[in-house]
Parts: sequence; structure tokens; C-alpha cells
Amino acid sequence: MGIGRELALVLAERGYHLGLLARKTDLLVSLKEEIKKRFPTCEVFVASCDVTQIEACQKTIGDMASALGQLDLFIANAGIGVQTPAWKSNYKHIHDILMTNVVGAIASIETAKDIMIKQGFGHVVGVSSVAGFRGLPTSSGYSTSKVALTAYLESIRLDLKKMGIGVTSIHPGFVDTPMTQKNKYAMPFIMPADQAALIIYKAIQRKKRRFIFPWQMKVLITLMRILPDCLYDALMGLFIKRLQGSKKTS
Ligand SMILES: NC(=O)c1ccc[n+]([C@@H]2O[C@H](COP(=O)([O-])OP(=O)(O)OC[C@H]3O[C@@H](n4cnc5c(N)ncnc54)[C@H](OP(=O)(O)O)[C@@H]3O)[C@@H](O)[C@H]2O)c1
Repeated sequence: MGIGRELALVLAERGYHLGLLARKTDLLVSLKEEIKKRFPTCEVFVASCDVTQIEACQKTIGDMASALGQLDLFIANAGIGVQTPAWKSNYKHIHDILMTNVVGAIASIETAKDIMIKQGFGHVVGVSSVAGFRGLPTSSGYSTSKVALTAYLESIRLDLKKMGIGVTSIHPGFVDTPMTQKNKYAMPFIMPADQAALIIYKAIQRKKRRFIFPWQMKVLITLMRILPDCLYDALMGLFIKRLQGSKKTS
């Protein structure tokens, strides 16, 4: 779905053979049919895979690499997001977010990069978020997960550089996907998923280490990262006040 689906189409159009993994097999099969119809020479491997089922998922990634012959590019895109405002009890939600966005993402990247080390080449891409730099209000689970993924990607980037394996961390702002279609709050600078996928593809081609988009979000995030805590708290406090206000009136 969402960004992953559009990235698959962008890559198929540019001659990549694809391995597509997610839990909903019916969506994977229909995407494969659509790709084969539009790009008949594209080979597409699909398999059901839940990144939280670590061992099964790691085996599926191995099967995928064997079926395709090699792994040039691995994009860890699977992710979930739900608001976890601290005035509610959220442990279960936070646990599930961390299992998918951190443990699942890292387990699958570990498998992919081990294959790449054996090959002697490859490029790992992790889809983090603009939420991956500071704790955002009402997003304790999601922000924590993306900050952790961002740090992991940065760390392996340093280690893998001398092995000829590139690592890119992608930080989208709001993208119109099933994930954000549930949101009730305003989403500034939101963009369609096909446009986001093309932007991500170009960043991958340019072997960017870290890529934040759109540019308006990049400016905002750059500012937020250097704000002292007192100013950051004041700015984010306005957002929380608005949320709590809308909660009282709803
Ligand atoms: N949309 C945004 O505004 C935005 C902004 C910043 C970052 N991101 C990040 O971009 C990535 C894609 O988000 P999206 O907006 O495209 O969301 P989406 O439309 O909800 O798609 C999420 C994808 O992840 C897969 N997935 C979820 N849990 C999984 C699991 N346990 N195992 C395997 N696959 C799983 C889903 O497939 P199944 O359900 O079939 O498993 C689906 O294909 C996420 O990492 C998200 O955090 C999104």
C-alpha cells in the first residue's frame, strides 16, 4: 500500500526486478499483476511476510534474494503509526509500533545487509520520518520508533561504507496514504504518494545519506533540531493545546 506500492511502480518502470513483501497477500498479488501488465519484462517475486515474525521474515528475505539472484537495493518501508497521547494509556500501541518500525525493520535490514556483505555490493534504504529527530507531541511511540531507526541507519552507514554498501535514511513529511488518511489533524505540505515515491527514488539514485522532504518540512525540521528545549516546548505546547481544545469540544 501507500509509499511502498508507488515505489514498486517507479522501480519497475526503470527496469528493476522486484521482491515485494507485506502481510496482505491479495494486495501483493494484484500489484504484481498490474506491474506485469504494464512492464512485462519485470520479474516480480511476492511473498507474505510479517516483519514482527522475525525468523519467518528473515527466511522470506533470503528466499527472495535467491529467487531474484542478487539484492542490489533493499528498502525497509513497512511501518505503522497511531497517535499515543501521554494523557492516555498507550503501552500496547507503543509496543506494537516498536515491534514493527524498529525490531521488524532492523531484523529485515540485518538479513538484507548480510546478503549484501556476501555479494560485496548493495544499497540499504530505511524509510524513517520527519518524526525521526525529536520527540513530537502525541507521538511517543511513533517518534521513538523513527528516532531509533534513524540512529540505527546512521550507525550501519558508517560501518558499511568501507564494504561498498550504501545506506540511505529517508524522512518524508506528510504523504497521502492509507496511514495518513486516518488522521484528523491538519497535515501541512501533504503530497500524493506517487510524487513522494519519485522523490525518494531520485534520492536513492543520488545515494543520499539522509534525505528529508518536502523542502518546507526540511526547513522546519532543521529549525526544530537546533531549538533549545524551552523554545521547543513552547512551540509544541501550542499544538497540544489545540489538540486538547478540539478533544473537549468533540
Ligand atoms: N504517509 C506518511 O505521511 C509518512 C510520513 C513519514 C514516514 N512514513 C513512513 O513510510 C512508510 C510507509 O508508510 P505509508 O504511509 O505508505 O503507510 P501505509 O499506506 O499504511 O503502508 C504501510 C505498509 O507497510 C506494510 N506493513 C505494515 N506492517 C507490516 C508488518 N508487520 N509486516 C510487513 N509489512 C507491514 C503494509 O502492508 P501490510 O499491511 O499488507 O503488511 C503496507 O504495505 C512507513 O514506515 C511510515 O512510517 C509515512
